[in-house]
Amino acid sequence: MGSIAVTGSASGIGAQVCRMLESEGHSIIGIDQKTDGKFTRIAADLSSKVGRQSAIDETQRLCDGQLDGIICCAGVGVTAPSASLIVGVNFFGVTELVDGLAPLLVESENASVVVIGSVAATHQQKETADLAQAMFDFDEQQANRLAEASGSTHLAYAASKFAVTAWARKLSVSIASKGIRVNVVAPGAVETPLHQASKDDPRFGEAVKNFVAPIGRNGQPEEIANAVSFLVSDRASFISGSVLFVDGGMDAMMRAKQF
Ligand code: NAI
Repeated sequence: MGSIAVTGSASGIGAQVCRMLESEGHSIIGIDQKTDGKFTRIAADLSSKVGRQSAIDETQRLCDGQLDGIICCAGVGVTAPSASLIVGVNFFGVTELVDGLAPLLVESENASVVVIGSVAATHQQKETADLAQAMFDFDEQQANRLAEASGSTHLAYAASKFAVTAWARKLSVSIASKGIRVNVVAPGAVETPLHQASKDDPRFGEAVKNFVAPIGRNGQPEEIANAVSFLVSDRASFISGSVLFVDGGMDAMMRAKQF
């Protein structure tokens, strides 16, 4: 049992993660730009440097200098108002926050970071390789410029999830000696407000509705939270640097030979 910071705590997957981890006895520090629900204790906009720093400072204050877990669920989807916002929240809103909070994990007996990626991380396209590179270089200005130049929230979303997944895997290697595990959960289609917005969007709606997992249905937030709960637990004590697809078989359907 420990103190766990969860971003995106006001909705969808993040809210369900908070509910599940709290029921298992953890103390939750929810971070979100919205203050809905009972779990959000820190209101911060993770798309901005100022918001990220205030989330780091407030978390440090609320956890009294020691954390046991960081779960990054906050994210925006393809219906976001701009491609640069996607990069700002889905990549820099994860990497800067985790970098700022990681020192608080060092004293924990079972420290763990879980990043919610996406099955879309595997759809990274050649035309956004330079955008992904700007994220790897932590050059937010250049990443914003390239995201806007791509003219596509869809491409920016895939690039942001690819980059954050690769970043988390690299972090798992560099931070392992401090006793901190880092893993990624890659959901397929999950029934949340984000997914509903994609289904309702005239640009993406049909494609999203027709992209059905082999299992024949979309997932529920609880099914993602189950994976997160496992990864932060002692039962996952030798699991680090993994990408766990929780997608009803979608990745296997698309890329059976790539693993
Ligand atoms: P959601 O829209 O229900 O929840 C996202 C939460 O992130 C919201 O509470 C929102 O306020 C927060 N957020 C967004 N921008 C923020 C910002 N600038 N600062 C602070 N908080 C911010 O969405 P859902 O579906 O629960 O998404 C959670 C994660 O799962 C996201 O990273 C998303 O990309 C990922 N995901 C979702 C899938 C789905 O089908 N629902 C599929 C694959 C990945």
